[in-house]
Amino acid sequence: IPVEPFDLVVFGGTGDLARRKILPALYRRFLAGQMGETSRVIGAARSVMDAAGYRDFVRAAIDEFDPVSAGDEGALAAFLERLSYVAVDATGDTGWDRLAGEVGSGRIRAFYFSVGPRLFGALAERLHEYGMADSDSRIVVEKPFGRDLASARELNRVLAQHFHEHQIYRIDHYLGKETVQNLMAVRFGNMLFEPLWNSQYVDHIQITVAESVGVGGRGDYYDRAGAMRDMMQNHLMQLLCLIAMEPPAKFDPDAVRDEKLKVIRALDPVAPDNVVRGQYEADGDKPDYRAQVGDPESTTESFVALKAHVSNWRWAGTPFYLRTGKRLKDRASEIAVVFKETPHSIFGEDAGRHRNILTIRLQPNEGIELGVTIKEPGPGGMRLVDVPLDMTFAEALGPDSADFPDAYERLIMDVIRGNQTLFMRGDEVEAAWAWTDPIIEGWEERGDAPKPYDSGSAGPDDALMLMHRDGRRWREIKP
Ligand code: BG6
Repeated sequence: IPVEPFDLVVFGGTGDLARRKILPALYRRFLAGQMGETSRVIGAARSVMDAAGYRDFVRAAIDEFDPVSAGDEGALAAFLERLSYVAVDATGDTGWDRLAGEVGSGRIRAFYFSVGPRLFGALAERLHEYGMADSDSRIVVEKPFGRDLASARELNRVLAQHFHEHQIYRIDHYLGKETVQNLMAVRFGNMLFEPLWNSQYVDHIQITVAESVGVGGRGDYYDRAGAMRDMMQNHLMQLLCLIAMEPPAKFDPDAVRDEKLKVIRALDPVAPDNVVRGQYEADGDKPDYRAQVGDPESTTESFVALKAHVSNWRWAGTPFYLRTGKRLKDRASEIAVVFKETPHSIFGEDAGRHRNILTIRLQPNEGIELGVTIKEPGPGGMRLVDVPLDMTFAEALGPDSADFPDAYERLIMDVIRGNQTLFMRGDEVEAAWAWTDPIIEGWEERGDAPKPYDSGSAGPDDALMLMHRDGRRWREIKP
């Protein structure tokens, strides 16, 4: 789909996110023909560098993070031609005149704030002062959007001084993942699921976002955040919203976001015994969490599991179990909608009791699977087995179907197209903090320490207990 010509300025253009995600994503959109004849990317950061220096930097980033696409030398050179660089000082005046001269007028201008939230206000202010905050402009802000309700409100306030809400794109890259959108297609594009999508038929819902990596080189940031702020408040909360929300009247940004907001507002406060935090231990020569962040006393959690209740007509009585953590068994993320057992088994107790489970696999092996119960083939009588009806994209739609754009590619292009459906609105972010703040404050007040867990495990035993005591079980973490 063609998009209008644009200029995209990446503040933090030499940073880690730019290198890993934003620049390779832009290159792939260029390859897909979405940068037209004239669209340009302007890196902006503090380092003094010329355009040639920046092109070398970007080439190295693409070589490292997307070696396959980087192989097309002619295309890569043509893409690099579209890049320039301006050294700017977010809190001073250096570079701003030049940047204002560099971005074109009368075309879409997007400013990507790939910097820490403490610079959001200063950047918005400078864009305004130097005449770049007009109606063709939009800004993209990365998470973390604050660290609690008060700071998020303050960020919303400073951004609103120079930009309207419809110009502010708060990224949650989980919303750009292919299966996350497919979840909406499955829910609202089929007659089959929606009538069953409530507490009468659904026993519980599990959301797992498991990572096998540790905190790596991001210890500084992570130790001040922890799994609750880093993942639960945003990514898992967004998944919960999409699963739990009422059908919006249309697939349009405010209709969808209104429904998500209602879900967050319907969440009950989480009682202390419904949440478990963990911290990973060493594994062979891999250091434990505390060593990795360089603080032997750290009580930050690298894992969190909790039981949430959406108190509304649809979901009363159906718990939502959510967990996320680092250094777990595998990198595997999924949402499982676990239906109730049939009310009565006509096949007798020997046949066992079976449940349908709808699994939405986010990564790896994106796909959707519905577990159904059938008769085991053969003459052995009425023996029942559970088999998956597998909707793995590659199998159903051919190998090319698994070749979809990654989350950042899609989201950046949505910014250019002016479509905010997959971005968080200011009130949503605030509501999510309003729900997580008391949980974190409770830990602080009680001096709660996270439970240690083995690297490569499914998290601390207490997290398993969270479900066992309800007579339920987490699904296995496997790709
Ligand atoms: C980021 C978190 O938002 O998401 C990271 O800050 C986490 O800690 C990452 O590793 C996970 O993203 P993905 O797309 O790899 O699942």
